[in-house]
Amino acid sequence: MSSSFSFLAFAAAVAFSSSVVAWPTARDDHGFQEPGDNDVRSPCPGLNALANHGYLPRDGKNITIPIMMDAALQGYNIQPEVILLAARVSLMTSTYAWDAFSLEDIRLHGNIEHDASLSRMDEALGSNWEFNEDIYTTLANSNPGVDYYNASSAGEVQRLRLEQSLRDNNATHNTLSELTIRTRESALYLSVMGDPETGVAPKEYVDIFFREERLPIEEGWKRSDVPINDDLINAVEKVILDASQWPGPVEGQCAWVRTDPGDDLDIVGPR
Ligand code: HEM
Ligand SMILES: *[C@@H]1O[C@H](CO)[C@@H](O)[C@H](O)[C@H]1NC(C)=O
Ligand SMILES: *[C@@H]1O[C@H](CO)[C@@H](O)[C@H](O)[C@H]1NC(C)=O
Ligand SMILES: *[C@@H]1O[C@H](CO)[C@@H](O)[C@H](O)[C@H]1NC(C)=O
Repeated sequence: MSSSFSFLAFAAAVAFSSSVVAWPTARDDHGFQEPGDNDVRSPCPGLNALANHGYLPRDGKNITIPIMMDAALQGYNIQPEVILLAARVSLMTSTYAWDAFSLEDIRLHGNIEHDASLSRMDEALGSNWEFNEDIYTTLANSNPGVDYYNASSAGEVQRLRLEQSLRDNNATHNTLSELTIRTRESALYLSVMGDPETGVAPKEYVDIFFREERLPIEEGWKRSDVPINDDLINAVEKVILDASQWPGPVEGQCAWVRTDPGDDLDIVGPR
């Protein structure tokens, strides 16, 4: 009796403090809310949407590997194996900690961030992190005549976007590392917004995901019941890769990764 009383007293105290202090993500209601003035966002629609729904900290800051893995699992049913490498690489962009990054840190070009994105401009041409409707036109117009995107349309979009970058931006970086990252990102939007077993995703959901960085719950979207793991992602990627008809790297460019946010380019691999 007395122990349940003290639990209730404790719960009441915690509940009371919630009106003063923001709840941690575990108690968030996961409703959509646009970022406020002190919140930061990234070039990644997947992470921005997780932050806009409170699976990641809504301010976009102080993201550790466990916080990231838990958010992807809760929000999308993505298994850690799918994103762990990206999350670890992103730690190198952090300006303030060894074990945490913010969504603005990962705008660093040459870490994960790359040219020929689906919805952002190349770093040399403009904002490499804000959604851009002109850039998104290629994806928005893909797979005409049906109301879904799939792995072959995603590959075709990658092909067209790379072609555009190579034409408009003489600084385009295009190596095996960009190809690998871009292909995973395409597989991710198809899998989280659609069916991870077929790689088919309703256009309506994907368009909301990119344009509003919102989970289209009101429109009928549901988190995948099927755990999104490497086997499923790899199968979708195979089709995307094939359809993307990658022309090979820009002459003389090798795979690289930017390992430091400082002014001097601290990179692994030749530029
Ligand atoms: C949680 C599941 C995730 C989903 C659904 C997702 C989805 C995507 C998609 C679709 C893009 C392509 C955007 C575009 O080309 O316009 C992208 C880009 C990006 N993602 Fe994610 N992502 C996820 C996890 C991650 C993780 C764990 C990291 C690193 C911590 C990350 C960092 C990035 C970055 C830096 C970009 C920008 C690349 C660029 O376009 O230059 N993402 N993501
Ligand atoms: C949270 O992140 C910000 C930078 O985004 C940093 O200045 C601050 O020290 C971090 N706080 C903690 C508790 O790590
Ligand atoms: C994607 O959809 C288009 C249009 O229906 C179709 O022609 C194509 O075969 C599909 N691709 C895959 C991999 O199913
Ligand atoms: C690349 O393009 C920029 C801007 O259009 C131009 O100033 C520069 O000379 C070009 N560099 C090369 C190597 O062509």
